[in-house]
Amino acid sequence: MGRLSGKRIMVTGAAQGIGAAIAEAFHREDAHLLLLDRDGEQLSNTAERLRQTGARLATATADITDAAAIAAAVADGERVLGPINALVNNAGINVFAEPLQSNDAEWDRCFDVNLKGAWNCCRSVLPGMIEAGGGVILNIASTHAFTIIPHTFPYPLAKHALLGLTKSLGLEYASKGVRVNALAPGYVATAKVLDWWNSFPDAEAAKAETMRLHPGGRIATPEEIALAAVFMISDECPFMNATCLTVDGGLSVQQHPA
Ligand SMILES: NC(=O)c1ccc[n+]([C@@H]2O[C@H](COP(=O)([O-])OP(=O)(O)OC[C@H]3O[C@@H](n4cnc5c(N)ncnc54)[C@H](O)[C@@H]3O)[C@@H](O)[C@H]2O)c1
Repeated sequence: MGRLSGKRIMVTGAAQGIGAAIAEAFHREDAHLLLLDRDGEQLSNTAERLRQTGARLATATADITDAAAIAAAVADGERVLGPINALVNNAGINVFAEPLQSNDAEWDRCFDVNLKGAWNCCRSVLPGMIEAGGGVILNIASTHAFTIIPHTFPYPLAKHALLGLTKSLGLEYASKGVRVNALAPGYVATAKVLDWWNSFPDAEAAKAETMRLHPGGRIATPEEIALAAVFMISDECPFMNATCLTVDGGLSVQQHPA
């Protein structure tokens, strides 16, 4: 019996990075998984790797901005796994600009994926959770949900709003046994952060500067974020609702590095 026995969990953005690490950690704790990503090829690779270690899972190639595709993916997944009783909204994208240099298309893309995409997934599983008398949703936010780094507009706005979605749904459905929480990672060693370092003229200097900002001198691994996700999806925190757990090595509470 693992810590997630009996959980049938949909994880979005599961092909790589934090989502893939979450899928692996959930499998280790005996969950059944519906793994969803818009990158079908990478998703197949990740799913195959997990199946080789005995994972019970279904996959869906879909874009979370497409509400109809998400509803269909959930229906298909439930035919294989049974009713989904947990969801991790992990799929997200960086859209970074200086505010006055950004444009409407970037704004729309950022909010469509990082906020509306999460809502599309919530509303595809919430009716089933309510009918079953309970469920749990975890939104992967960011320390950008309550702090700002200049020139990363409008990504932090969407992550702030994702905390709003978390609180709103957490309150609406608490009486139905549904918990809705957020997890706020700081910097995590994934392709997203590598791409960001590579956007600077001197990627190595950018990386060193990021490490210097951290009280422990390093950033998180995806597996360290996944450990927190296991706890928050499990039944080990039944009264944790409509709140956010920060996992950033202490980065967001310091006034400035020593
Ligand atoms: N890496 C970090 O430092 C960091 C820090 C804080 C929060 N986060 C958040 O964690 C989450 C995962 O980040 P990551 O670093 O693992 O990213 P990543 O880019 O490595 O992986 C994201 C995955 O999501 C998928 N995806 C993106 N848009 C999608 C869409 N519209 N529909 C379906 N799938 C989609 C991608 O194909 C990819 O497989 C994101 O929400 C991100 O904002 C990351």
